[in-house]
Amino acid sequence: MRCIASVLVAFALAAAGAQAQQGAGDVVYVPTPQVVVEAMLRIAKVGPDDTLIDLGSGDGRIVVTAAKRYGARGLGVDIDRYLLGLANESARREGVADRARFVEQDLFQTDLSGATVITSYLLPEMNLRLRPKLLALRPGTRIAAHDYHMGDWLSDESVTLDVPEKKVGNPGVSYVYLWRVPATVAGRWQSGLRVHDASVDGEFTFTQRYQSIAGAAKIGSAAAPMRQASLSGDAIGFEFEVAAGRGGGPVQYVYRGRVNGKVMEGSVVVRDRAGTSTQAWQATLLAPAPRDD
Ligand SMILES: C[S@@+](CC[C@H](N)C(=O)[O-])C[C@H]1O[C@@H](n2cnc3c(N)ncnc32)[C@H](O)[C@@H]1O
Repeated sequence: MRCIASVLVAFALAAAGAQAQQGAGDVVYVPTPQVVVEAMLRIAKVGPDDTLIDLGSGDGRIVVTAAKRYGARGLGVDIDRYLLGLANESARREGVADRARFVEQDLFQTDLSGATVITSYLLPEMNLRLRPKLLALRPGTRIAAHDYHMGDWLSDESVTLDVPEKKVGNPGVSYVYLWRVPATVAGRWQSGLRVHDASVDGEFTFTQRYQSIAGAAKIGSAAAPMRQASLSGDAIGFEFEVAAGRGGGPVQYVYRGRVNGKVMEGSVVVRDRAGTSTQAWQATLLAPAPRDD
């Protein structure tokens, strides 16, 4: 299916190329309609603290808009010199040449490590080729793509836009996808907790496929599967309920936190029949496990 889709996409983009478009390399030049550019920057919540890289920057519209409207710094890479000329000229014309740069570079060789936001309008197979490099970026890095997916790495958010003027790719419609690079949490974590003035050992075990996580928790000798486990960039949340609270009822634990390498920390709300308390928590990685992606 994907193969057929890719061929159709390639054909559509190639047809666009026939309309006197410039562009070279792995995909012809088709500009993202301005309304879609705005949607990509909005879904990625681009702001003045961001450094954006557009992979295959064409006439520079994504980087220039990010700099002009949202105050971001931006870098566009392309291998078409004519388009790079247009992009640099546009940055000068719009008064953002100090924040919007365009360089001749193969997008597969580009150093992405300084980016907080990556944007692209590339073929699905190019997205797939880039995927391992994107997944290795700092957790929380946002990736906004026009029209094309990342295979089985499902997006965190998406919007569909009616774009009547769009004649290629998916005519009349654009899909905008957002991924947040997930932290790695697969493995066994150890965490202490105070329950009714007593110190209790806790242990969490997570499995992970991209940003999708599941797990189990042990508090003292009580074990329970996690519910509503979620991971968005470095933000983690999970809940579980164990029996035998004071008074014999269930105890609910609601964890929220941030992952930073081998440490995660945040606050946990503990609820039982005796009441509700909130406390800080920290967990350290005991034994990493392979991710399923
Ligand atoms: C579909 S256009 C998207 C342009 C722009 N990002 C936008 O959304 O308006 C893809 C661009 O990627 C460029 N390109 C293709 N292969 C490339 C490569 N290997 N390295 C850098 N740029 C490449 C093309 O020259 C073209 O400008």
